[in-house]
Amino acid sequence: MTAVGIDAMEIWVGNLELDLPGTFAPAQGEDPGKYTKGLGLHSSSFPDSYEDIVTMGANAAHRLMDRKGLEPEDIGRIDVATESAFDNSKPVSTYIAGCLEQVYEGDFHHANKGERKFACISGTQSVNDAFNWIKSGRSRGRSALVIATDTALYARDDPGEATQGAGAVAMLISEDPSLVELSTEQGFGSADETDFLKPQQQFPSVDGKRSMQVYLARMREALEDYEAIAEDIHPDSFAYIPFHTPFPGMVRKAALLAYRHTSRDTDVEDSLAEEIGRQPRESEFEDRESYEDAVREYTDALAETETYQSWYEAVVEPTLSISREVGNWYTGSVHIARASALRHAYQNDVDLEGKTLGVGSYGSGAQAEVHAEYVQSGWREEIEAMNVEEQLDSRYDLTFEEYETIHDAHNHDLDTDIEALTTPENEFVFDGWGRMGERQYSYVE
Ligand code: CAA
Repeated sequence: MTAVGIDAMEIWVGNLELDLPGTFAPAQGEDPGKYTKGLGLHSSSFPDSYEDIVTMGANAAHRLMDRKGLEPEDIGRIDVATESAFDNSKPVSTYIAGCLEQVYEGDFHHANKGERKFACISGTQSVNDAFNWIKSGRSRGRSALVIATDTALYARDDPGEATQGAGAVAMLISEDPSLVELSTEQGFGSADETDFLKPQQQFPSVDGKRSMQVYLARMREALEDYEAIAEDIHPDSFAYIPFHTPFPGMVRKAALLAYRHTSRDTDVEDSLAEEIGRQPRESEFEDRESYEDAVREYTDALAETETYQSWYEAVVEPTLSISREVGNWYTGSVHIARASALRHAYQNDVDLEGKTLGVGSYGSGAQAEVHAEYVQSGWREEIEAMNVEEQLDSRYDLTFEEYETIHDAHNHDLDTDIEALTTPENEFVFDGWGRMGERQYSYVE
């Protein structure tokens, strides 16, 4: 069977940066440790006044197409995943195609375009749609462009403000991919939840603490569903586990539960038995409450073991490096976690070809998906070609006052006209409104 998966990816980071412990925490009267140690974040990326989900998505896609030597005719599908769309009818993919057509000779008139919504998981769902389209034999040898793009802003003084971010990930989904092949096995955990939503409003209504519980519950459900169809899984089955990363502290919690779950009835549980005992089994307890207390106690002890900590350092920590510097990118978040892991392998000369990644995607509302990905022979060249450090390092460092102004500039309810803080170069920019209220874009050399 032909392998289908991610052939290449590129990211586009918002051009502004907010230093969380250095600038945001003091202005909020908070301890910087909440950001660096608690949430695990150093900075957030923000869009300048001329940037939005279309420019960031089009810029990431442009880099990707140029690097891979692609023309519009090579693309049979453009799917955009976002939870920051500004139009209930016209999809962001048409705006992005319009941008790209300004810089290529051909056009995307024969490409199927759409927009996916299911909070942060829609990026992975769009990758799945592209995978299915190719596997079904409908692609005519063409590739799909999947773009996950978001401006993840919260209302000022909402606790979520600490986890904001903005950026886009463009992925090329093809036969015989260079980066990763996707598994056909998937596990889902999905339920009607009211934890994070945007009912006809720009900034989310969030029950933050509950959203974390829902993330863990749905991820566990997805893992169990995945186990039901995949071979027995073990903590060492995966070279890296990129999770959806709203902030690294969330992944720290998810990883510990995943480790406990996948190490049950394995040599890992046996080898830890002397140090922390065996995992509690519900049948050994009189009631659910005492069982849950025992599980909590075991989990806390597990977190302190050298065995767990060295696994976490090797398998999960490397997935968090980009997220720490950019915050939450919603639909793009799990995809930058994958990029962080592969970048870590590249920088440390890890031989990754043929190894498996376990990918845990999540979207509020709520749904989790677990699937595997198999690293392909071209992964090293693909990762080497990305310019992540350059983009991170060239961001403009915001003062708190500038942050307040830029937040207002992106607030749809305010009419704020501000001077850009950076000068665009070789990129698409927002340059005003058309006669039907559409947003207009141009390419700046
Ligand atoms: N030193 C070290 N650690 C500190 C600290 C300090 N000085 N101060 C606080 N901390 C720790 C806290 O103990 C806490 O860690 P634990 O959870 O491990 O106890 C962590 O830092 C955060 O502190 P708080 O809980 O006090 O933070 P908060 O109440 O301001 O809110 C939040 C945190 C609920 C995550 C909030 O940022 C939020 O609402 N975020 C948006 C929702 C979200 O991201 N949910 C995640 C799951 S849903 C999802 O994944 C979808 C999505 O993308 C949105």
